[in-house]
Parts: sequence; C-alpha cells; structure tokens
Amino acid sequence: MCGIVGGVAQRDIADILVAGLQRLEYRGYDSAGVAVITSDGQLNRLRKTGKVAELAAAVAADYPSGGTGIAHTRWATHGEPNEANAHPHLSSERIAVVHNGIIENHHELRDKLRASGYEFSSQTDTEVLVHQVHEFIEQGASLLEAVQKTAQVVKGAYGTVLVDKHNPNEMVVARSGSPLVIGLGIGENFIASDQLALLEVTRKFIYLEEGDVAHITRHAVQVFDVNGQPVERPVKEATGSVDAADKGEYRHYMLKEIFEQPTSVRQTLEGRISTNGLAPNIFGQGFTETVAQLNHIQIVACGTSYHAAMVARYWLEQYAGVSCNVEIASEFRYRKFHTVPGSMIVTISQSGETADTLAALRLAKEHNYLSSLAICNVDGSSLVRESDFAFMTRAGAEIGVASTKAFTTQLVSLLMLTLAIADEKGINAADKQMIIDGLLGLPAKIEQALTLSQPIEALAEEFAEKHHALFLGRGDQYPIAMEGSLKLKEISYIHAEAYAAGELKHGPIALIDADMPVIVVAPNNELLEKLHSNVEEVRARGGVLYVFADADANFKSDETQRVINVVNTCDITAPMVYTIPLQLLSYYVALIKGTDVDQPRNLAKSVTVE
Ligand code: G6P
Repeated sequence: MCGIVGGVAQRDIADILVAGLQRLEYRGYDSAGVAVITSDGQLNRLRKTGKVAELAAAVAADYPSGGTGIAHTRWATHGEPNEANAHPHLSSERIAVVHNGIIENHHELRDKLRASGYEFSSQTDTEVLVHQVHEFIEQGASLLEAVQKTAQVVKGAYGTVLVDKHNPNEMVVARSGSPLVIGLGIGENFIASDQLALLEVTRKFIYLEEGDVAHITRHAVQVFDVNGQPVERPVKEATGSVDAADKGEYRHYMLKEIFEQPTSVRQTLEGRISTNGLAPNIFGQGFTETVAQLNHIQIVACGTSYHAAMVARYWLEQYAGVSCNVEIASEFRYRKFHTVPGSMIVTISQSGETADTLAALRLAKEHNYLSSLAICNVDGSSLVRESDFAFMTRAGAEIGVASTKAFTTQLVSLLMLTLAIADEKGINAADKQMIIDGLLGLPAKIEQALTLSQPIEALAEEFAEKHHALFLGRGDQYPIAMEGSLKLKEISYIHAEAYAAGELKHGPIALIDADMPVIVVAPNNELLEKLHSNVEEVRARGGVLYVFADADANFKSDETQRVINVVNTCDITAPMVYTIPLQLLSYYVALIKGTDVDQPRNLAKSVTVE
C-alpha cells in the first residue's frame, strides 16, 4: 500500500511524478504529496488530502517544479488521513522522505530524536526516518551513508526514498519489505513502487532486492546490498503496456476487467495446454521430479486469492489425489504447525507483494518444505523471486481494487496445476479429458456468462436499499459464494456473509426474513439435490431468493424466488463461470449506490503491511 514515485532529471519532474502517482493510486488514495528541489535550490512541498486528482490540479495551477523530486499517494496506517500526515515529510525544510511500510520501533526513535532537538509535525511512523537521516548527516555522513546507517536502526518494513536540497542531483532509496523498482532513462533515472508508474518514461528496470540501498543520479545508479557491498542487479525490459492503465470505453476499471476475462483466460492457457494435455514443464524445470516426492500441499493466500485456494483444494484432492490444506496467510504465519513430510507450499497472490503471504512463504522455507510454488500475476515480484517455482497467471495489469480477472486466471492456473500433478500421480482418461475440454472451452463460457450483464443490472435495483445479504453455495461453489459476498461488501458496503448451504440450519437461518436477500449459486452438479433442500428451508421461512442456476437445475421463478439462468454444461469450470454473474451483481449494486467502485473506501489493492 502507498505508492511512491521519484526521479532525478534535467527537465521539470513534477508532472511526471504526479502522472506516475495516478497510475499507482490503486495502492492507496487518502492523501497525496510531492516535493521537488527547484532550480534555485528550494525544497518545494505540496500535499493534499483525497485523491491524486486534487494534487494534480494544485500542481497544474501553480507549482514551481525542478529536476529532482519525490511523490507519494498514501494509505494511512499511523495517523489519520490529513494533510499533516501526508507524505513527503521534511526535516528542517532540507531533507524530504516518502515511505511505504511500517516502522515498528518509531516510538523509541521518536523519543530519542526529540531528545536531540527534532520537532515532529505529524503522527506518522515515517517522520522518524527523515529526522534520523538528518541527524546522521549532521554528524558528517553523506545522504547515502545516512540512509545506510538508518537502515541499521529502524525495525519494520519500508520502501523509502529521500532527497536533500543541499545535494540536489541525487536521491537515495532503500528497500526492506516493500517493493521498489528503479527505472533507467537517458540522462535521467527514476524510482517507483511499481513499474506501472514509469512505463511512460522508460522500459528498463532494476528490481531492488531485500536490504538494498541505491544511490541514484541522472547518469548513474549504484546499488548496495544488505551488507553495504556494491552489487550489480540485472536490468530487465518491461513487458507491461501503458494502455493497461487506461479504462478505454468502460466507466470503471472493474467493469473493463470483468469483460476482459475471456481474453485473460485465453492468455493464461496460451501455449500451455492443447487437446492432448499440458505442454511439458509449464511449472518449470524440475517440477515433475518434485511432484514424484509430493505427499501434501499447503496453500496460503489472502483475500480473493484465498478463495481461489479454497476451490483448488476440492480439485487437488479429487483429481490429483494429493491431500491439501488451505490457510489464510496471516493465520498460518503466527501458529505452530506440523510440516507433513513431502509437502509443497503454494502461495497465491495477484500482486506477489502481500506482506502476510510473503512472510508465510519465508516461514515455510525454514520448516522443511519440499519446495515452493508461487501462482502470481506480477513477474519479478517478491513472491515469484523467492519461490522455487513460479507460474504466472497472465491476467494483465489489474487496476480495480476489487479483484476480478486475477481471480478467474488464478483458478485456471490452479486447475492446470491439478492436471500437472494428476498426470504424475495418475488420473483416469475420462477425468483428464473432461478437465482439458473444460479449460479449452472456458473463454467461450465466460463470454456467454457476460451476456447476463443487462439482466443483472436490472436485478441490482432490488439490492440497493438492502443492508445485509447472504450467499450460499456447496462444494467448490462455497468459495465462489464467499468471493461473491466479498465483492459485494468491498464495493457496495452492504454487509454480506457466505455460508456453505449445509451449514445454514446451524445458525444463519435465524437471520432469514424478507429484508435479507439470499443469493444461491446452483450449477447442476452432484450436490444440486442437497442444495434444493437448503433453498426450500429458506423459502419456508419467508426468505427472498436469487438463484443463479444452470437452465436444467429445475429452479422456477415466482414471487419469492428469482432464477437467473447461467449457461453452463461443465462441472469442472463452473466455479469460474458462476463467478462472473456475482462480479456483475456487485458492480451494478455499487453503481446504483454511487460508491467509488475502483477505489472503495479504506481498501488498498496491494497490502504490503501487516
Ligand atoms: C487486498 C486486495 C484484495 C486481494 C488481497 C490479496 O486485500 O484488496 O483484492 O485479494 O489483498 O492480494 P494478493 O495480491 O496477494 O492477491
């Protein structure tokens, strides 16, 4: 969370920094700020509460720019989202800092720095960084040395950038726990927390490693590792497209990304599967050998990615014949666990930077896991770099905070993982062909499901005044009900819960009345009869039902039950197909409620702090 952009250039840089922030707004959007060293050596800071657009307007109106500067869009952790807490923070109007992460020992450092005479003007943990660096500079250190020394005394996570008006042609950046990428230009260099921010100025990037500190000028970039030794980090060419950050004809990124799903699923499958099965080595060299020793899979993830993991457990146990446990990363990382011999740790993450998921991977690596696999959408992310194997979901950049195409491509990737393991462990030919055909036919199924957009838009009217909603599913549709409920609460702020339909009578049935819409996902599978009984339990208690069902699932619309037919003839990909109408429902409800669909309150897309 929090987006950082910085640069050292000959040209005026403020507009580039603000444009970069606009591309990073998915990381946080409660306040934003910029600080630039002007040609006459002044450190000129401007901060605004609210969206980056507020800052952009102020910069456009009147802002003396310069060639070196830093900028930040904030997702508040310490201190409310007001102007005083917005970054950049300054020390004595001389040094400026932007920071992403949390400084855990900020109380202690604050007391020490106060005793040395530094005055604090914000409630943030970040401000200790800039005063600490300043103190080291006062003691004779260069900016680079001061940042290196500060890295020794701070505890916690940071991606941080500092500039000093007494040395106007340089910036120093440090990474520990929060990603930073250096963008290499011609006679100018940049820094950002995501390369997306810099795609308009460069295509060449250096990804900093944990503990790296870098000194950046217009013509040179010097990187030092965690031990302070100079290191060469590889330069990589970016593959992302600038267009990914444009809404195109759509009103919101979320709607664009929902409609992109046939394409993104095709990209996930491309070159990896044909009617004969999986292409060799799609999970990497040596993966097959690992599977030969595999007894158990532990999946960890957060949020939407956790729901994908839950679906995968049904598939892995049924078709790949391997036991599987699924856990929320923030729980897994803090409990004592027993490692089943021959276990693989699988992490699932859109961003590859989620702090809890990364911590869970690092913990597992200390606990005798056979190997690690990351299912991820961002190449070069921490999770990808730190795992033995990585499988890219290829969803393309996802900007809307509520995850959509990342989720369906995770499911597709996980079904290919199921098939890859099943190929080694043994699977009957009919099941194998069913999975292959299901995957190859999925883009067309999603296209059909998207044609429900208009009827669902009309249906959404019935939800707009509701305060609560209940989602029900069984088997691999239970996690889909959970994902549907998460989408609704994330963007429309309606309280929603999901239950495995069989659990209804153990509590939630007490909530049923005419004011609580009950949304049911009901493909025609082996659990359908059980689900019919659960639906009848709701009807008998005056509940109002919205049933998303296969046409042959035998549900009829009447005054207390609306049936929406979802075209589906395949069990195995039903989780992906049934996700689509639930995404559309939450989108259209949010639209009616007038909430901020792409940047819902209090949320951030990439949660890089605990
Ligand atoms: C945040 C996002 C969610 C996402 C979760 C996990 O909460 O708002 O959309 O599912 O993080 O993120 P990851 O990048 O690890 O999939």
